[in-house]
Amino acid sequence: MKNAIEEKILACREEEWAIVTGDGFRLHVDPNEGNGISFAESVAVTLGEKPRWLHCRWLYDEIGSDFYQRITEQPEYYLTRVEDRILADNAAELRRVVGDATIVELGSGSSTKTRRILEAWLDAGDACYVPIDISLSALEQACGDLAAAYPDLVVEGLAAEYDRGLRLIGGISPLLLLFLGSTIGNFNDDEMDEFLRAVQDALNPGDRFLLGLDLIKEAEVLNAAYNDAAGWTERFMINLLARMNRELGTCIPLDSVTYDGYYNEERERVEMYLRFAADVDVRVAKDGPPLVIRAGESVMVEISRKFRVDAMVAKLADFGFALERVFTDPDEFFAVLLLTRER
Ligand SMILES: C[S@@+](CC[C@H](N)C(=O)[O-])C[C@H]1O[C@@H](n2cnc3c(N)ncnc32)[C@H](O)[C@@H]1O
Repeated sequence: MKNAIEEKILACREEEWAIVTGDGFRLHVDPNEGNGISFAESVAVTLGEKPRWLHCRWLYDEIGSDFYQRITEQPEYYLTRVEDRILADNAAELRRVVGDATIVELGSGSSTKTRRILEAWLDAGDACYVPIDISLSALEQACGDLAAAYPDLVVEGLAAEYDRGLRLIGGISPLLLLFLGSTIGNFNDDEMDEFLRAVQDALNPGDRFLLGLDLIKEAEVLNAAYNDAAGWTERFMINLLARMNRELGTCIPLDSVTYDGYYNEERERVEMYLRFAADVDVRVAKDGPPLVIRAGESVMVEISRKFRVDAMVAKLADFGFALERVFTDPDEFFAVLLLTRER
């Protein structure tokens, strides 16, 4: 028997998505993985540009998703801990304000912090959760864990890019859309505008958007968070090159690469690079031309922007979102904004 949410998702699908059925959950898997741009094509283009870069979406294969989870458990990585506390302290209030709504989450990963919200929903009545993530392995693991922990929760996941997932949820309302972990900080200006436009288009008037933001703070705290002593951030970053070796056969000697991540105060963002200590020929396509990365060159892999609440609220207003509540911690390290999609 199809549940109401599955009916709505199926009604929005234009092509055949594969269905994976697990114990107590179901996943819809996008046949158009990578938005039509393959890993190889993306790497060939961005590594060839100057300055060289790699898209951070490729960090999340099965191993990368696992490494990211380890980062969130490190003592220096305050982001997860602080946001979790904020959600724990305010989940019941959130449920009271938002009322009965389907919970959809973009970039849901392990859905660990989301449990705070799901529990508040289940305490008040029924709950239906639609996690959306490109990492099928992370999604399967998270959905299996949630279904086992909360037998009454309806879990209907989408293994897809943000914008492909957003196109499938238009029929679901009332809805609470979560975007946690300050993942929005990984977007540059153009990507953020495109993303916010897609969210604006996907939500119906009156739907809610809950957005986690890492706030500007001392460089020392930020530099420590992105350079954990146990080395998980470095492993996470270098795994992207290891993934290229595994999946694209690029044969990059990983011992010639180091991770360098630091807070750029002027641009108010952490910048994460891979630095090459030796000349390396990277051949992405078997018969394609080699790209030569010279000793001393670096490749940008990710940015993590840091935010001011007022400026972000003004930006969100341009995309039709009105601020309803700001939840924060006593040190004002992190903020969770509750917004309404205006009529
Ligand atoms: C920074 S992690 C945050 C995970 C979780 N929300 C948290 O707060 O701990 C980003 C998550 O988004 C997913 N992701 C990254 N790029 C994506 C994209 N373009 N579309 C869908 N999911 C994406 C990753 O697989 C990962 O699980």
